[in-house]
Amino acid sequence: MSKAKVGVLISGRGSNMAALIEAAKADDCPFEIALVLSNKPDAGGLETARAAGIEAWAIDQKLFGKDREAHERELDAALRQADCGYVALAGYMRVLTPFLVRAWAGRMVNIHPSLLPKYPGLDTHQRALNAGDAEAGCTVHLVTEGVDEGPILGQARVPIRTGDDAHALAERILVEEHRLYPAALAELVQQKPASS
Ligand code: GAR
Repeated sequence: MSKAKVGVLISGRGSNMAALIEAAKADDCPFEIALVLSNKPDAGGLETARAAGIEAWAIDQKLFGKDREAHERELDAALRQADCGYVALAGYMRVLTPFLVRAWAGRMVNIHPSLLPKYPGLDTHQRALNAGDAEAGCTVHLVTEGVDEGPILGQARVPIRTGDDAHALAERILVEEHRLYPAALAELVQQKPASS
């Protein structure tokens, strides 16, 4: 079986990236992780990826100043060079410009720690607690130009417990993120043949 090649973009510890790498080891997983890129040189996930034998490096956003598109052109070139058919954002904490979003339309996914359309953006766990919600969760969606707005591919729900703080809730949701992301990505690559 030929596997879809996925490039993963991270900014930090990369636990979702690690979950994708782990899932991709299965013979019947329809994707493989071809490349990991970070916008930050100190992202811990880079070392994790390399330890798993995956090519991983940073394209430091600081080198491009305010020119976000120039930074993304480098990301895009590296993804194409690695022959990626899909891109998975995994804790990539920088809003994308229309350039990269359009370049990968329908083939770029994101994981977000809320039940979208609730709580796009940051501080999702605290916002769910502040609202008195009975449940929270995570969402995998296609990336479009509106932040955290694209078509939803999958969600996982987590009950909010009495006494939960943002940290406890985030940890429980993260467990679900690690299950949901590989499953949703596998489904996408099986539906939609990559074209570049
Ligand atoms: C994850 O919880 C992910 O859903 C979230 O950042 C965390 C990254 O953790 N992403 C966003 O908030 C994107 N808007 P990780 O680096 O361990 O995967």
